[in-house]
Amino acid sequence: MAHVFVSRALTGDALHRLTAAGHDVDLWSGNLPPHPTELRDRLAHAEGLLAMLTERVDTALLDAAPQLKVIANYAVGFDNIDIEATNKRGIPVGVTPDVLTDATADLAFALLLAAARRLAPAEAAVRQGRWRTFEPQGWLGADVHGATLVIVGGSGRIGQAVARRARGFDMSIISIGRDDDLHQALQQADFVSLHTPLTSLTRHLIDDAALNAIKPGAILVNTGRGGLVDQIALAAALRDGRLAAAALDVTDPEPLPADDPLLSAPNLLVVPHIGSATHTARNRMAHMAVDNLLAGLAGDPLPHPAPAPAPPK
Ligand code: DGY
Repeated sequence: MAHVFVSRALTGDALHRLTAAGHDVDLWSGNLPPHPTELRDRLAHAEGLLAMLTERVDTALLDAAPQLKVIANYAVGFDNIDIEATNKRGIPVGVTPDVLTDATADLAFALLLAAARRLAPAEAAVRQGRWRTFEPQGWLGADVHGATLVIVGGSGRIGQAVARRARGFDMSIISIGRDDDLHQALQQADFVSLHTPLTSLTRHLIDDAALNAIKPGAILVNTGRGGLVDQIALAAALRDGRLAAAALDVTDPEPLPADDPLLSAPNLLVVPHIGSATHTARNRMAHMAVDNLLAGLAGDPLPHPAPAPAPPK
C-alpha cells in the first residue's frame, strides 16, 4: 500500500481505483490549491502525487518528498514541473495527452469566433439595454471564413485539431513549428492561435517584436500557456489597435490580479483556463492520471509519460 496525495477533488470515480488497489489517498479538499508549505507537509510521506498545473514541483518540493516514486500531472502540459529535477531523482512524470485534444481545439475555435464577431460585448449591450435597434454600421467584426490562420505549434495534436476545424471554415492555414519563420508568417495572419508548449525557448514568443510583425488588425487566440505571450506588449498592441482583439484561455499568472493592466485593455476576451473543461475530457484525464499513478507505484513504466524535451537545434 502506498500513500498518495491528490491536490484537488476530481470528477467521476477514477480515484476509487486507487483505494481499490489498496492505496491510501490523501485528498486535498480545498477549492483552491494547497499553499506550497501545506503541499510540502502533505508530501513528506507520499509515494505518489496527483498534481494540477497549479502545483509548482521544484527541487525544494522534491527534497521535502523523499519517498516520492511517481508524479501524475492532471494536464497534458507539464511546465509546472522541473523535469530536470525529477529525472535526476528518477521520479517518472505522467501526463494526460489526447483525451483533451478536441475539447481544447473546440474552445480555441469558440474563442476565435467569439473574438471575431465580438460576441461578449454584443451580448453585454443587449443585456444592459444599450442595444436600441438594428445598426447597419454597428458591431462589425472580422470574417472567419476564408481568412488566414497561423497555428503556432501546428504539428502538435491540438494544433492539428484546430486546423481540422479551420478547414471547415475554408481558412488558409499556416502551420508554424520551431524551425519556421514565425514573424514572416505573422505578417499574413488574420488570426493566430497558440498551441506550443511553454519552455524556456517559447516564453514570450509573442513579444513586442512579434506583435509589430503581425498583420494589423489580426486576432490572437491563446489556449496554450499564458507565458507564451508578453502580456505588457499584448496590452499595448490592443490599446494602439495593432491587434483587433485577443481571446485568452490562459494568462500569467492565473488568475490575473483584478488591477492587471491587461484586463482593462480594449477588445480582450478572457476565460478561466477551461480548454479541457468538458465532462468527458476531465473524466478521462482523471482515469489517465490514475493509470500513470498505478503504474508508477507498481514500479512499471508509465503508460503516458511526459515526452522528453526536443533536442537543441
Ligand atoms: C493541460 O492539460 O495542459 C491544460 O492546460 C489543462 O487541462
